[in-house]
Amino acid sequence: MKRLLFLVALIGFVTPAPVGAGENGSKILQNRCAKCHDLTGPAPQTIRKLWERDAPDLFYAGNKFRREWLVEWLQKPVRVRPAGVNYLRTINSAPVRDAEEKDKNYDVLYGAVLRPLKHLSLKPAEAEATADALMDLKAHSDLVAGMQLDRNKKVDLDRGEVLFDKVYGCLSCHQIEPGFGGYTGSELYTAGRRLQPAFMLSYIKRPKNWDPKIWMPNGNVKPDDLQKIVNYLILLSKEDFNAAN
Ligand code: HEC
Ligand code: HEC
Repeated sequence: MKRLLFLVALIGFVTPAPVGAGENGSKILQNRCAKCHDLTGPAPQTIRKLWERDAPDLFYAGNKFRREWLVEWLQKPVRVRPAGVNYLRTINSAPVRDAEEKDKNYDVLYGAVLRPLKHLSLKPAEAEATADALMDLKAHSDLVAGMQLDRNKKVDLDRGEVLFDKVYGCLSCHQIEPGFGGYTGSELYTAGRRLQPAFMLSYIKRPKNWDPKIWMPNGNVKPDDLQKIVNYLILLSKEDFNAAN
């Protein structure tokens, strides 16, 4: 019996751990990510719970992110939400000083409150394995099932921006260039690189299906405009925003 145990232990010892296998990634998720991120769902069902959330939900990551972006970001994380996950802690409405400034009154940062994002970063092999494990988290597949990007509904940047800024007012919460736009939501000039088209279509159509208490309104975006906006966001994310700095 003892010998058998020894043999079992020996086999366990010499069997090489699968490199980059999904199992590896799930272990990383459980051990290093679950203390901040919700990996199982559901999303906060009350406003109190929403305000207690300090990190984005990842339980539907496989239906949300583009894998290439995950692999890159996990090695070099940078801020996605200009005011953090909990914008009420860091931003306020801009004071309207006179009539001329009236249409400029979108949100401003309190300034020093928000520090640069401190997020653990992974080594290349860990990032690959963790991205695989994240891509396996497939909650809400029903919400993306019927969503298909229509590439015939392309718009140029100017027409896309008119829809985004003027027709639907998305600019009041989202930035379409570093430093230009609202602070309440995530930056969207990188959305086309970060997010799957089907996710964007579904989220913009009805954000509360994903996150019942989120501040983004169910905007009643017309089906045609929904397609145009997502095509616009994909086009926008191909711009080189570093070139201007
Ligand atoms: C100390 C808390 C904390 C830990 C631990 C942590 N994260 Fe995060 N993570 C955050 C915060 C806060 C953000 C939001 C950054 C932003 O939006 O600017 C974030 C953002 C992300 C994003 C982008 C999500 C999105 O919706 O934009 C991914 C992906 C991510 N984390 C994955 C991971 C993985 C994988 C691990 C474990 C290896 C991990 N995080 C560990 C706090 C944490
Ligand atoms: C009142 C503020 C507000 C308005 C107006 C608004 N959004 Fe949002 N949006 C948000 C918030 C908050 C989120 C969730 C960000 C997060 O996951 O932390 C969000 C998320 C998104 C996402 C998913 C982004 C991501 O990184 O996961 C997309 C795409 C998006 N919005 C597009 C739009 C479009 C297009 C419009 C106009 C039709 C719009 N939003 C109007 C606040 C807003």
